[in-house]
Amino acid sequence: MVQKIETGDIFTELNENGEQWRIDGDWRGKDLISVEQLSREAVDQVLVTADYLERLSKLEQKQVLAGKDVGVAFWQDSTRTYSSSVLAATRLGADVLGLHGMHAYSSTYKKGESLEKTIETLEALELNLIVLRHPDDDSGLRAAQVTKIPIVSGGAGKLEHPTQALLDVRTIRAETGRRAEDLHLVFVGDLKYGRTVHSLSKLMAIMGNKRMTLVATDEVKMPRGLVKWLVSQGVDVEETSDLRAAVREADIIYDTRVQREWFDSEEEYLKVKSAFQINSEVMKLVKSDAILMHPLPMVDEIAPEVDADPRAVYLPQQVNHGLWTRGAIMTLILEG
Ligand code: NCD
Repeated sequence: MVQKIETGDIFTELNENGEQWRIDGDWRGKDLISVEQLSREAVDQVLVTADYLERLSKLEQKQVLAGKDVGVAFWQDSTRTYSSSVLAATRLGADVLGLHGMHAYSSTYKKGESLEKTIETLEALELNLIVLRHPDDDSGLRAAQVTKIPIVSGGAGKLEHPTQALLDVRTIRAETGRRAEDLHLVFVGDLKYGRTVHSLSKLMAIMGNKRMTLVATDEVKMPRGLVKWLVSQGVDVEETSDLRAAVREADIIYDTRVQREWFDSEEEYLKVKSAFQINSEVMKLVKSDAILMHPLPMVDEIAPEVDADPRAVYLPQQVNHGLWTRGAIMTLILEG
């Protein structure tokens, strides 16, 4: 039975004109709002460009975006996406306008200015690209519609987080060396509100993945529309609350934080918060060549002793991949 889709729906339902957003080989001047825009070739371009940029000398890296001005404007908390976007642009020689804490310090906060007017202001200041994080699901789309400057989503509400998904794909490639087709992905945690899961599951389906297991409590199950879409792409999707059975057969375990900020009450949050902790006992069931990923921040869904397990790649590997993946996205959009 198809249930009511409450949140985290797929992007194609947000606009009727998918072709206009398609990224298929030529990234120049494009917005990146959703992974649904991407072809496999476009993803490969990011991976190849990230490797290329990483191998350049520091001096060569500084030339890549020299003369460009990049704005990083965030209306939600962030540690990794903000710092790696700023650092990537800086290392590539761009000048960066870092607008962290827009939810507290910009004119949208107490003065009531709209996101759209703020974006138009940044355009008037002649920025060349804006990395945007905002709590509204449609924020990336709305921003892209009012400006000619490319918008790169650094997370939009509960819907999508495309740069995270691209860095996750780079992590999977680097850490397993295996093709998306051959992997069994197990997503664990808050699959309803977790935008990283929405983007990565779609992107892995685009990359040819055929098997995903979703481990969540009933309260935070993957949105029905997204599950339907994955199945329509040929993915065999299994939903379960049996973490132990799921991890035994996993090649990739992608764990996530329960997204406290979207719950109606603290009580509801506490009910699901610690449903599935991954500890050393659970890791004993996991294959020796599997990897454990997490987009971070982490609360208590992974026990601290697991950090030292060689299969845990969230720190430093996964975070580190964010740097050159984000650098590659900006380079492809600004330089082709
Ligand atoms: C995530 C986010 O903001 O969606 N963080 C990130 O960018 N790596 C995950 C989260 O907040 O749980």
